[in-house]
Amino acid sequence: MKNLLELNAWQSLNEHFFNIKHLKMKDMFQYDEGRADKYTYELNNIYFDLSKNRINFDTFSYFVDLSKSLKFHNRIPELFNGEKVNNTEDRAALHTALRAYDNILFDEIANERTAFLQRAEDIISDDNIQHIVQLGIGGSYIGPKMVNEALYNFSNQRFTIDYIANTDDTDFEKVFSKIEISKTIFIVASKSLSTSETQYNLNKVLDKVGISQPNNQFICLTASPDRALEIGFTKNNILTFCSSIGGRYSLWSSIGFTIALNIGKENFEELLKGAEIADKHFSETEDYFQNIPFLLAYINVWYRNFFDLRAKANIPYSDALKYLPEYLQQLEMESLGKIIDKQGNKVKYATGGTLFGNIGTNCQHSFFQMLHQGVDIIPVDFIAIADSDTRLLANCFAQSRALMMGQDLSEVDEDEVTGYNTHKFFPGNIPSNTIMFDKLTPSTLGTFLAIQEHKVFVQSVIWNINPFDQFGVELGKTIAKDIEQSIISEDNHFDSSTNSLISRVNHK
Ligand code: F6P
Repeated sequence: MKNLLELNAWQSLNEHFFNIKHLKMKDMFQYDEGRADKYTYELNNIYFDLSKNRINFDTFSYFVDLSKSLKFHNRIPELFNGEKVNNTEDRAALHTALRAYDNILFDEIANERTAFLQRAEDIISDDNIQHIVQLGIGGSYIGPKMVNEALYNFSNQRFTIDYIANTDDTDFEKVFSKIEISKTIFIVASKSLSTSETQYNLNKVLDKVGISQPNNQFICLTASPDRALEIGFTKNNILTFCSSIGGRYSLWSSIGFTIALNIGKENFEELLKGAEIADKHFSETEDYFQNIPFLLAYINVWYRNFFDLRAKANIPYSDALKYLPEYLQQLEMESLGKIIDKQGNKVKYATGGTLFGNIGTNCQHSFFQMLHQGVDIIPVDFIAIADSDTRLLANCFAQSRALMMGQDLSEVDEDEVTGYNTHKFFPGNIPSNTIMFDKLTPSTLGTFLAIQEHKVFVQSVIWNINPFDQFGVELGKTIAKDIEQSIISEDNHFDSSTNSLISRVNHK
């Protein structure tokens, strides 16, 4: 297999980069009045404006050539049909099967869906239950929390729903101060049931409830049912999902149980069907010039590998989407933060970069300074909802325009305080996508999230890395176990910095 850097299309992109890297977006808009139309796309009432990017027709054209040489026409069916695309774990990645309604390829996955949605309905109709507390971390927490916040307007308001992810006592006590234990269902969400934080929190909750094993108030969401039985969950209280679903791709499975409890079966199915719309768009749009996940991935690769940009910001202009940056951070950085390729070799090019973000307008009053006048170019994904406050939208559109246009010194007078005006210079030409929902609904949110997953998949195929494993998190976990023992036994055998930190804890 040819290295990415040796492919003709990659070399064409390299030459193309040197030809267009100095072009100004504001000039591109001036010379081409139809530019916005040429680079806007629509799917399920979501509008994708990709026109404020440092690209032209040739850019996408070379990327489409690249995609053809990487044989995406085979890669996508492999993903959807359950081939072992997660090569390091010898597994498929079946998240698309979780939202398949029209073309069900995996009956067991569909049956698991029926089971957890029915169970959610049963709990919703049990008037005695008023509180839900979920224990789980990473993908078994961030996705459900983000979706429940986003779909607040669709909540049945039946329960208080709290999440305990970390092992911090403060958070734990806060949750228990709000609930009445006898009216609570405790949900343990863990694919592996071996995650130390979740095990620790389960034991703490059992202690608090005053029992030694999970009783009928405890439900387990897992891909390891045998382990759940060992822990003491009854069979009836285990809602399984398939082990070929990665943590950060799992909100569509029984891991999304709190979402189903919060918005009900019908809305949850709308979320899944919205994702299915994106799955069909991605797998059936053979013209990659019109395939949104491809185009978003092309833009990311363009900036990462050619412009050498290392960071990117996700800015939703909506409080409902306040956890979205955190969710996208896990999705992209855990999937694409890889230095080793699928054949086990060190990659010779950049892969996933840093993702950060917060809600606009709040972050306009903090890190936006750096986006506008910092020395690094940081592309932005603006995420807006057309059906929302005019001021929010005005700010969102103003920021993408300001980043693109910048401000020349000729446009500003000297400052009264300093006597000069250079501090009012904005270099501009800073790229952004604007992704705007007509309305934020279960269906549109499902489409948006699945598009993000497929974008990540496209990037992973271009970079020849496995987006479905996360060995990078293991080393720290192993050392943490060792250090925990050292803190307890005061046996310090690490580097002098770590030893001193441990001593300081022990002799405070
Ligand atoms: O620490 C990484 C990770 O494996 C994530 O990918 C996953 O979402 C999280 O831990 C939780 O894992 P589990 O669901 O097995 O408890």
